[in-house]
Amino acid sequence: MLFSPLRLGAATLAHRVVMAPLTRMRAGPSGVPGPMNALYYGQRASRGGLLIAEATPINPQGHGHPDVPGIHTREQVDGWRLVTEAVHAKGGLIYLQLWHTGRTSHSSHQPDGGAPFGPSAIAGNATGMTRDWKSVPYETPRAMTAMEIAGTVAAYAQGARNAIAAGFDGVEIHGANGYLLEQFLNPASNQRTDQYGGSAENRNRFVLEVAEAVASAIGKEKTAIRLSPFGTHGEMVSDENTEEQFTALAEGLQKIGIVYIHVVDHSALGAPAVPDSVKKAISTSYTGTIIISGGYDAARAEADLEAGKGELVAFGRPFISNPDLVERLRTGAELETPDHTTFYTPGEKGYTDYKVLAAV
Ligand code: FNR
Repeated sequence: MLFSPLRLGAATLAHRVVMAPLTRMRAGPSGVPGPMNALYYGQRASRGGLLIAEATPINPQGHGHPDVPGIHTREQVDGWRLVTEAVHAKGGLIYLQLWHTGRTSHSSHQPDGGAPFGPSAIAGNATGMTRDWKSVPYETPRAMTAMEIAGTVAAYAQGARNAIAAGFDGVEIHGANGYLLEQFLNPASNQRTDQYGGSAENRNRFVLEVAEAVASAIGKEKTAIRLSPFGTHGEMVSDENTEEQFTALAEGLQKIGIVYIHVVDHSALGAPAVPDSVKKAISTSYTGTIIISGGYDAARAEADLEAGKGELVAFGRPFISNPDLVERLRTGAELETPDHTTFYTPGEKGYTDYKVLAAV
């Protein structure tokens, strides 16, 4: 099944191998992608295959890591065009993951130099990174005002329009891994008393407003989302109500009619287990395409596709070290192991210098 076609929005994919979004911190301080980034994505493109480009802040406030690309200036849009052209030249498709880091940002990234904002003034306990690559404890965020919430929803819509202007085939809203959207979903970071907090319905509201605004801006058939139910990244918590909340969220996304839900399950990487029941509840409430991800190899991907757990499988780390991953999976060739020490370092090393099979 991994190499059978699938209709996705207006496109037809030739196979089910998707490149997962992977932050690589290689776009320089201005966040403008260049020829090196275009080479990296072009190397990983395949005819009829879908790539999801790395998490990319929709506005200056959304940045929280050094040297990640943005999608909020003309230069960034022009830079991304090099990337989308390189992927399209090989017959591939590429979505952009839209990002806002919320409370996990740091004042050094903020345009006004002030504290980052989040749903509530509750700090995470881990460390973040300054604009100049220093590791620092998280600051206490400012609780967003109603106006800031509305402004951020609008910024997602603008980010999506910019992505389409840059040639992307669609966008994946980053609703996973403890960043701004999941900070709204999760009671550990959202203790608001207005219509955005207090109940599961209220905690889902911001995410649904963002999805609705993006779908209105660029079309529901180009709008997707990534979610990490029961995830713990960013100190998210779960309880006996989590499954019900994600079921309601999936129902809301079904009403909007987005093109796919990408479900993160990092249990194969040592994270706590994600109950099968929540994944089933999502795929029952939502009838569009499901992407499954987290620690897949060809055999497990095939088995989970056969079992109907999803229609597409995203691979992350294997794509870092195997630019021709699709071909290797097709032929059953050996996979290179990625060098994790160069996951987040500037330059070509560990980025564009992994070899394709014929050249090994
Ligand atoms: C990631 N992951 C990730 N997830 C996401 O939603 N947006 C992102 O920008 C990133 N960035 C990122 C960078 C690096 C270096 C790694 C290793 C991971 C998570 C990623 O998409 C994927 O879910 C995990 O890597 C698990 O899948 P694999 O690697 O086991 O196939």
